[in-house]
Amino acid sequence: MPEPMRAATGRAAAVEVEQLGAYLGAEIRGVDLSQPLDDETFQIVHDALVEHEVILIPDQDITVDQQMAFGRRFGELSIHPFSPNLKDKPELIVLDYNEGNPAFATDVWHSDETFREEPPMATILRSVLVPKVGGDTMWASMTAAYDALSDRIRNQIDGLEAIYDIGPFRRLFPDTPEGRAGMRKMEDLYPPQSHPIVRVHPVSGRKALFVNPQFTIAIKDMSERESRMMLDLLFRQAETPEYQFRLRWKPNMVVMWDNRSTQHYAVHDYYPQRRKMERVTIKGDRPFGIGAGRVAAAPPRAIRNVASGPHTERGDGQARQFQRLIAEE
Ligand SMILES: [Fe+2]
Repeated sequence: MPEPMRAATGRAAAVEVEQLGAYLGAEIRGVDLSQPLDDETFQIVHDALVEHEVILIPDQDITVDQQMAFGRRFGELSIHPFSPNLKDKPELIVLDYNEGNPAFATDVWHSDETFREEPPMATILRSVLVPKVGGDTMWASMTAAYDALSDRIRNQIDGLEAIYDIGPFRRLFPDTPEGRAGMRKMEDLYPPQSHPIVRVHPVSGRKALFVNPQFTIAIKDMSERESRMMLDLLFRQAETPEYQFRLRWKPNMVVMWDNRSTQHYAVHDYYPQRRKMERVTIKGDRPFGIGAGRVAAAPPRAIRNVASGPHTERGDGQARQFQRLIAEE
């Protein structure tokens, strides 16, 4: 028997969660991140993150310490191995892009730092300065992207593993003896990792497509050509608009996303305007797939608009005929 819903009390009673996108995205109101979160409010925010995968908390004129304190409610903060960070607060990354410092490698679909053995479970971004035009961020629900695949493809990829590599970060090292030595040191510290293609979310049990074009270089136990073709097919799932949510930033928005179930893409259309964000990430666990027995995997949802399904504009008769043809194969 499911537990009856308990009505929130105290400060948590003022918290509202509004769904924004069909498969991901929710806005949370009635939360003040300049104050420590009480347990009940934290639970509402935590559950909204797992359920909606990306949560937006607007109007948060907070300090970096308050942002870090919010992150620490979810777990230990992690330190990015390549991004420049503050000396006294290495967990904080200031992303300050402008004419002299264009954004680097953020306009590729990815889940953060998946080249690591234990990639961060979530990222929290706060907008400080936003361009007048452009600079949106897009997220894709990789649970919806997985659920929308046909049974046959799902059966084929369940249980497969892929290789994740530091990829684009190599370009940060100059082509000098010191630069090459620095790169080799980083390659030793962060060797390629093997992660499941289909990751089971440790809280919800939902399966998510975990491969991404920024860090995934090959599928194990496949020829290079098979691997490239399969990865191309799976990468394209994130590009499907139906599984996406796009945010037009305003200053003082706090957005938190679940790296276990989403990918994101920072739209690089605002150069040379300035865009300044502050970011913290929370340590995650080692990704596991189906059969790991950690949680019961949730069955796939019926996705309303399957990109590869029969086109509704064909008309009912044609669609039925098409479905019959597929079923007869
Ligand atoms: Fe990112």
